[in-house]
Amino acid sequence: MKYKRILLKLSGESLMGDKAFGIDNDRLSTYASQIKAIQESGVEVAIVIGGGNIFRGVQAEQGGMDRTHGDYMGMLATMINSMALQAALESVGVQTRLQSAIEMKEISEPYIRRKAVRHLERGRVVIFGAGTGNPFFTTDSAASLRAIEINAEVILKGTRVDGIYSADPEKDPNATKYDTISFDDAYGKGLQVMDMTAFTLCKENNLPIIVFDMDTPGNLKKVLDGEQVGTIVRN
Ligand code: GTP
Repeated sequence: MKYKRILLKLSGESLMGDKAFGIDNDRLSTYASQIKAIQESGVEVAIVIGGGNIFRGVQAEQGGMDRTHGDYMGMLATMINSMALQAALESVGVQTRLQSAIEMKEISEPYIRRKAVRHLERGRVVIFGAGTGNPFFTTDSAASLRAIEINAEVILKGTRVDGIYSADPEKDPNATKYDTISFDDAYGKGLQVMDMTAFTLCKENNLPIIVFDMDTPGNLKKVLDGEQVGTIVRN
């Protein structure tokens, strides 16, 4: 395996599958089996999942709701997805621990960094819910922050696209995919990798990001086997 400890960032929207809202059970179990496959090969796996399939703070603001309020609702949405993923993983025999950035002790452990690291060392998949616990931060920022805190070697950002392109491939037929790109080049070319807070955290802490298509079964394992899948962004 190419990495010993990783942080996998999953998108909430991807969890919808072909549905218009909520959680698609087939997609959920595909994710669980992909994660099981890498966990069984000995990689320590931490996960952050978004909440956009249930609620988006930014949209709430457009509807007139206070941004802070909407962001907290979004954090709760990530907990629903985290719990769904936890159940899906446990149903295929993967041990998990869920830690929340907002205390809700009846359903989750609180986020405690040292405990999270211990769980990972014992082979448990650790899911970090409720983002960073703060409004104005995305789940990409939560993923970057937690990855740095637990000394993950890389963030694997699972998306619906298979990497980072020089332009929008749906609009520009000449768009080409990067296998590797530096943080500076990605910034200079204005390529959207993650939001700037998340991007800067990774760059300053020398944490590479691999953007890849998580919705193609087997891709996650390929990334960890060191195959050229997706795009790697690094210093
Ligand atoms: P070790 O420290 O390695 O023994 O880890 P452990 O997670 O097995 O021990 P612990 O006794 O802390 O946890 C046992 C179970 O209780 C696990 O499923 C935890 O996720 C869960 N758990 C621990 N703390 C909390 C909490 O504050 N709230 C909730 N809801 N569950 C918790």
